Amino acid sequence: MISVNVLNCEAASFQKAPTPSKLKLLPSARKSVKVKRMSKRFYITTAIDYVNGQPHLGHAYEKVIADVIARAKRSLGQETFFLTGLDEHGQKVQQAAIAEGKSPQAYCDELAATWKAFAVKLELTNNDFVRTTQTRHKEVVQAILARLYEQGHFYKKVYRGFYSTREETFLTEKDRRPDGTFDPAYGEVAELEEENYYFKLRSHQEWLIGYLEKNPSFVCPDYRRNEVLGFLRNHLLEDLCISRPASRLNWGIPLPFDANFVTYVWFDALTNYISIPAALGDPGVPPELNRHPPTSANPNSDAQPALWPADIHVIGKDILKFHSVYWPIMLKAIGAPLPKQILVHGWWQKDGQKMSKSTGNVVDPIAVIDEWGVDAFRFYVLRELDIGPDGNWTDAGFRARYSAELANGLGNLVNRSLSMLKRYRNGMVPPVSNELSADAERVVAETLALLEQNQLQSALQSIWSLVTKANQYVDHTAPFKLAKDPAKAARLDEVLYNLAEVCRILAVLLWPFLPSTASKIHGQLGLEEAPDRFAAARWGGLTPGLAIGAPTPLFPRKEV
Ligand code: MSP
Repeated sequence: MISVNVLNCEAASFQKAPTPSKLKLLPSARKSVKVKRMSKRFYITTAIDYVNGQPHLGHAYEKVIADVIARAKRSLGQETFFLTGLDEHGQKVQQAAIAEGKSPQAYCDELAATWKAFAVKLELTNNDFVRTTQTRHKEVVQAILARLYEQGHFYKKVYRGFYSTREETFLTEKDRRPDGTFDPAYGEVAELEEENYYFKLRSHQEWLIGYLEKNPSFVCPDYRRNEVLGFLRNHLLEDLCISRPASRLNWGIPLPFDANFVTYVWFDALTNYISIPAALGDPGVPPELNRHPPTSANPNSDAQPALWPADIHVIGKDILKFHSVYWPIMLKAIGAPLPKQILVHGWWQKDGQKMSKSTGNVVDPIAVIDEWGVDAFRFYVLRELDIGPDGNWTDAGFRARYSAELANGLGNLVNRSLSMLKRYRNGMVPPVSNELSADAERVVAETLALLEQNQLQSALQSIWSLVTKANQYVDHTAPFKLAKDPAKAARLDEVLYNLAEVCRILAVLLWPFLPSTASKIHGQLGLEEAPDRFAAARWGGLTPGLAIGAPTPLFPRKEV
């Protein structure tokens, strides 16, 4: 459920916000500059993680989802830009740095190295890595704040209430438990009186409801959209407190119009999705925000990718309100188009319990990857949990999938198919045969349709139907028996071609999900290039006469 009240300082009066005028081009931008408009890239983002935590399963899951979608789009021929990164401002970071005797910047720099290494470990293909302490980001946040301030979207007022440092927000009466206390999850709660700046959200409420109604795929899955709509229809939006007094918190982006305040960390963080395009000179962002707009001397180029509006923001269910209420309203006020979709995933538990460091009930993705390999990790999270509901990690479930689907399923298929080709045909691909082509074509079509709807779990199920079919084909055709009878040489050729070709097509289909495994399959087939073009998943692509490489197990069986 969306929490109603924890994020705003107080219900504010019904003030009519000025309708943001259509952004006017700067004089320089208005001059007719002949620039080639590069075609818009598919632009996908993840939430930016709080720098002051350790990377865990939930972070890894989200990043892997975004990576699979990004790789799939590229494989389908669409230029793609994938952004991930870190949320580095706020009181928690400031306090953690002080506790370690470090400056907040030095503290963030150290942790950022861990997070960047984590992205590499997951084999993410992100095109950029944003850190909210970077100048390129801060400049855009300030440009947006200055603009919204000038246009009258903010006002200042005093508010007295109970403040949770852990959540960096004021709590209200609704947050109290029946015994009058606040949930320990809020950490230390102190009574504060504070003057702050507020963003007038309420005047945009009806517009947002209408927008969600008219754009059913804006929030996915459907039940999350219904949650947002239910919330908006049943509650008056409270204005958003967008500042924190610098006297209390100075680890933030100063408000450009009042140096006594820094920017509320969520306003800062959400802006990352557009600050990086703006910093790169994306022609799709409002001209006032664009840091490197194309000019005739510097025409639009790859260095200034056309990104905005984002195609997908991948986020977890806990931060839905920020992305489906605050962010659209911020963008409307800025005069920028809205992202096309907010794709909301569920939360992982371990053994049916909330993961918690204090009880030791956690899944450490790095330890899992070190022991089982990154593709085993990617496979389990994507195959086990559809994007939407909550999931439950169990070590036994992980091992069962590794053993049945990876080692005995895919691994066994590839290893025995290529080993037999090596043994019986000296590793030379026989003439084309089409016995499994219909099965392969069905799975290729299904996978394509499912990828287009971001149905990653179902796509894996479909791909595994081909793995199973091909393994059964080995059992039925028994090539090891055919090999003993010279009169059956032509039949053996057929069987071996079908198996090798299925392995090749599987490599192409698996590329977005299990990139290392897909590359290994290609390599073992003697194919040098990466299996990164979906169009290659067409039956008959394996050339007769090709000499395959050495078969080696993809997923070694493990004694448990
Ligand atoms: N910094 C904010 C996001 C700002 S985006 C403009 C934040 N950071 S976070 O580190 O707490 O969470 C990052 C992402 O990880 C969120 O999308 C969150 O939902 C996700 N997950 C954190 N724990 C999770 C699980 N246990 N399971 C699945 N995803 C979870 O929120």
